[in-house]
Amino acid sequence: MLDQITTLRQNAEAEIAAVDSLAALEAYRVKYLVRKGAIAELFDRLRGVPVSEKPALGNALNQLRARVQELYDERNAELTKKPAPPAEIDLTLPGRRTFQGSRHPLMQTLDEMKSIFVRMGFGVADGPELEDDYHNFEALNFPPDHPARDMQDTFFISKEALLRTHTSPVQIRVMKEHRPPIRAIMPGRVFRNEAVSARSLASFYQLEGLSVDRGVSFGELKGTLVAFARQFYGRDIKYRFVPSFFPFTEPSAEMYITCFLCKGKGCRMCKHTGWLEVLGCGMVDPNVLRNVGIDPEVFSGYAFGMGIDRTAALRYGVDDLRLFYENDVRFLKQF
Ligand code: PHE
Repeated sequence: MLDQITTLRQNAEAEIAAVDSLAALEAYRVKYLVRKGAIAELFDRLRGVPVSEKPALGNALNQLRARVQELYDERNAELTKKPAPPAEIDLTLPGRRTFQGSRHPLMQTLDEMKSIFVRMGFGVADGPELEDDYHNFEALNFPPDHPARDMQDTFFISKEALLRTHTSPVQIRVMKEHRPPIRAIMPGRVFRNEAVSARSLASFYQLEGLSVDRGVSFGELKGTLVAFARQFYGRDIKYRFVPSFFPFTEPSAEMYITCFLCKGKGCRMCKHTGWLEVLGCGMVDPNVLRNVGIDPEVFSGYAFGMGIDRTAALRYGVDDLRLFYENDVRFLKQF
């Protein structure tokens, strides 16, 4: 019987090397390790041997069972473990960098302007970039022969349709849709048939403002714009309002602030005047109110419009407006 135990052990040790799948391993277990398997069979025959041989044979059988169980466990562990990563991966290689985008500097500037006006109680409205003569000119009190209607300035799409040259047509749309009190800003893209250069573009952004109610005064317009300028440009700027002309406001003005680069001393940015023009404004012309069916004897209003591109350029010290539209990542990632 000792011989049988030795032979079984040799067979079990030889066969385990050929076990290369979980199915083969299961067959191996069924052959040796189950209750009706080869080892259990030898244990059964232990009952028939003389008592004097029992301890030695029992001991040998226990060792056989332990050894085969060990072979089984080792193989099982090898067959079920995950494959090691291939050795060719160089773990010292640097990782792949991901790039995070950022909001466009023009939109950052616009967002800041918006949030200041929203805090002062203005709503936000918008209108189409493709306009008609009525909204862009006629309702805004442009006389039929006004030079701004000239083909030089306006991109006409057809006889009726044009690309809006300012955001002021949105004033007309807002006033036609809402009754006073009205308090809204209207940001958006505008288009002018101009030669493109570092200082002027054929397409840029404006922010329009409008407030219409009973008893709205020029003082309120100034107060609102000064409050805006102090928050946007800085507490200690100086400002001045200079008379101007727009067909849709009367009286009209332009607002200047002290150049924040040279603090008024004079530099290239302010063309050595110490002053920067930041917006156009005025009291809504009674003709405009009449055009939208608001009685100018009862209501009055103010409006203003400022360029966003030029403001952003001044703020960030950008000396060529075209940079905002080239989408060069080397430029954009600085903001
Ligand atoms: N629409 C004018 C422009 O484009 C700006 C403006 C808006 C002036 C509102 C007065 C009132 O130049």
